[in-house]
Amino acid sequence: MPLYRAAGLTRRDLLAGAAAAAVAMPGTKAFGMALPALPLNAIVTRAPLTGGAGPKSEVWAFGGTVPGPLLRARQGEEFALRFGNRLPVASAIHWHGLRIANAMDGVPGLTQSAVAAGAEFEYRFTPPDAGTFWYHPHERSFEQVPRGLAGALIVEERDPPQADRDVTWLISDWRLDGDNKLVEGFGSRHDQVHAGRLGNHITVSGDPQPEVKVLANDRVRLRIINACSARILNLRLEASQPKLIAVDGQPVGPTTSYGEALTLGPGNRVDLMVDMIGPPGHVIPLTEISGERLELARLVFQGAEQRRPAPLVAPVALTPNPLKEPDRKDALVVPLVMTGGAAGETDMSAMQGTGAVWQFNGTAGMMMAAGSAQAATGEPLFRVPRGRTVHIRFDNQTVFPHAMHLHGHHFRLLERQNGPAPQPFWWDTLLVQPGETSVVGFVADNPGKWMLHCHMLDHQASGMDAWFEVAG
Ligand code: C2O
Ligand code: CU
Repeated sequence: MPLYRAAGLTRRDLLAGAAAAAVAMPGTKAFGMALPALPLNAIVTRAPLTGGAGPKSEVWAFGGTVPGPLLRARQGEEFALRFGNRLPVASAIHWHGLRIANAMDGVPGLTQSAVAAGAEFEYRFTPPDAGTFWYHPHERSFEQVPRGLAGALIVEERDPPQADRDVTWLISDWRLDGDNKLVEGFGSRHDQVHAGRLGNHITVSGDPQPEVKVLANDRVRLRIINACSARILNLRLEASQPKLIAVDGQPVGPTTSYGEALTLGPGNRVDLMVDMIGPPGHVIPLTEISGERLELARLVFQGAEQRRPAPLVAPVALTPNPLKEPDRKDALVVPLVMTGGAAGETDMSAMQGTGAVWQFNGTAGMMMAAGSAQAATGEPLFRVPRGRTVHIRFDNQTVFPHAMHLHGHHFRLLERQNGPAPQPFWWDTLLVQPGETSVVGFVADNPGKWMLHCHMLDHQASGMDAWFEVAG
């Protein structure tokens, strides 16, 4: 794909849709001048969430599309984007999974002020890691994400592995009424105390059932992002031996031993490398198998045409990103006991007044009152000198799974009880099952104030958020 140098978007993305119209072409980088920032406005618009059938839905959209435009940055090179807030409310952009400077992390009240309606904010950072990431607001995210504000950010490897196609599937779910209107009541108490806002309609990159055309013996890199507010996805690609090559943006394997399905909590990503082996007209569906098997998307072989006479045999391993291995023994150990929610230990009546239904170590909403953009209040969960290893011991005493997400760092899963055996992956978001205890480790090497929260966005807003500080 041809890239405009110093820009975040490819030609294809620019031509792809309404987003294109809003995007001015940044020039090439000149000596002594700052890299021009790519403009990206969030607006209120309408999108065909159910495809051709039925009325369009009013959504909030980066660049005018859901999901927002696919942004491309390059590993080790500066990326600049000017966010224009054309929404009726304050917002901001968080770059999920990127280990960038704290001031660019996009968390109102902690790393920046919320960007007021009509205002702009320039993000400028240099991603150290290549991989599949995504962006979304961190301001009332329990409302702004399910209204449509999310998009993929790909940081390209300096030396990418051979692939004929690079396909990104960003999965969102929507709660629609009979007229395709988004059901209001974001952040309802019912959603908060249960599994969060689950939609009744799923789209893959904005499409209810996309088809991607492939040729026999193509090698396809497939990037899958769970951008749902609360839904856990158990996905199967019905192809022979899809190879898992990255988790949460960080290279793994390649491996085919990930069980029957790929489990993605909200916020998680996987990269697969798949060789298209099959007869003419063959179809490879992506199915969600949590309940009734649901086809979400498909790869469709184009007739009898072949990319090459036989599938590629070249290896697909990605170059590891520059992450420091956590010390397995010498660490600051942080216990994090998760309680609350429906059928939890806490009596619902005891929650009245605080507005919070979940607790970390007995404290609800360590950072912010639910949904408010106030400056950070309260104490951090921990403070740590830069370079020290931290072990967080997640102890899920609730009856719900939680997707625990750490900002500015990736972690290893060091130990797990009452859950699947730990895999040798790096994560930024870890699904912790009810009754599970998991110890994760990371080197706190990125100075600043960082959030640690459940990525089930209604849980985040009702007590499951905290922050920590890495001293400069
Ligand atoms: Cu994807 Cu704190 O967020
Ligand atoms: Cu949760």
